[in-house]
Amino acid sequence: MGRVLVTRQLPPGGCDPLLAAGHEVVRRDNDDPYTTEELVELVPGFDGLVCLLTDRIDAAVLRAGAGGRLRVVANVAVGFDNIDTVTAADLAIAIRNTPDVLSGTTADLAFLLILGAARLASEAESELRSGRWTGWSLTHNLGVDVHGALLGLLGYGRIGREVARRATGFGMEVLHHSRHDTGLPGYVPTMDELLRSVDILSIHVPLTDATHHLIGARELSLMKSTAVVVNTARGPVIDESALIRALHAGTIFAAGLDVYENEPHVRADLIAAPRTMLLPHIGSATSRTRLRMARLACQGVCDVLGAPDHQSG
Ligand code: DGY
Repeated sequence: MGRVLVTRQLPPGGCDPLLAAGHEVVRRDNDDPYTTEELVELVPGFDGLVCLLTDRIDAAVLRAGAGGRLRVVANVAVGFDNIDTVTAADLAIAIRNTPDVLSGTTADLAFLLILGAARLASEAESELRSGRWTGWSLTHNLGVDVHGALLGLLGYGRIGREVARRATGFGMEVLHHSRHDTGLPGYVPTMDELLRSVDILSIHVPLTDATHHLIGARELSLMKSTAVVVNTARGPVIDESALIRALHAGTIFAAGLDVYENEPHVRADLIAAPRTMLLPHIGSATSRTRLRMARLACQGVCDVLGAPDHQSG
């Protein structure tokens, strides 16, 4: 059986597939991320690595692992832009992630941001909490309607489709754009066309070189001034500087964000920008889903190292 390093705390029971398969599991007793230097030093002694999106698994880490016994890296996340997958492939180190199990939970949160940003929920709540609410007014805290709005999904994978399912309950028309023609109703062949037409844009693309700053000043300028932008994918897909300018200029109505360009640092000028709902990357954060993610990642390691299937959830 193999030795597996788990870089951060997993929910209780998260390591069960590894333990049941008889692997030796090494966990740290705190939840601090390892530095790259620490990982480089540690990984050669392990067959498998279970890591989080906060761990940078770069070429140095992978080369150090390949120089030892590392065969698999499993990210407890669906996105894996924190891993140098090209180097991993060169070194024949398998990469695993956690698709499917978090789609519904992340789509729920996208919808929370759609509703919250469109209805200015964060601004209104902070007005109340800070004692600035002076009473009911016909002309204050006016948002835009979600029901009946035209929702545009940028990226139409598992999470985007779950958001689309929720949108039908709100009587929304749903369009989507993705790199490849999905052949499905609602497909819009160009992103610009999607941006021009939608009332609410929800982003569901992975972070790659091609999607870095996919939504910048030009793209925002194509959108309606009443439009709402929601991002639960990865922060760098949006050029935050451009978004902040658009919010101040009023060329975009509101933004709901769960992800940021430089996590966990969130720019002060983004925090201060008007009409935003900002959450700290909690898209998949429910107890059930996080446990399922942890177990799926651990099962991914078992699959590569050769062990029976103990995934449950
Ligand atoms: C992911 O899985 O990629 C999310 O960002 C965290 O749930």
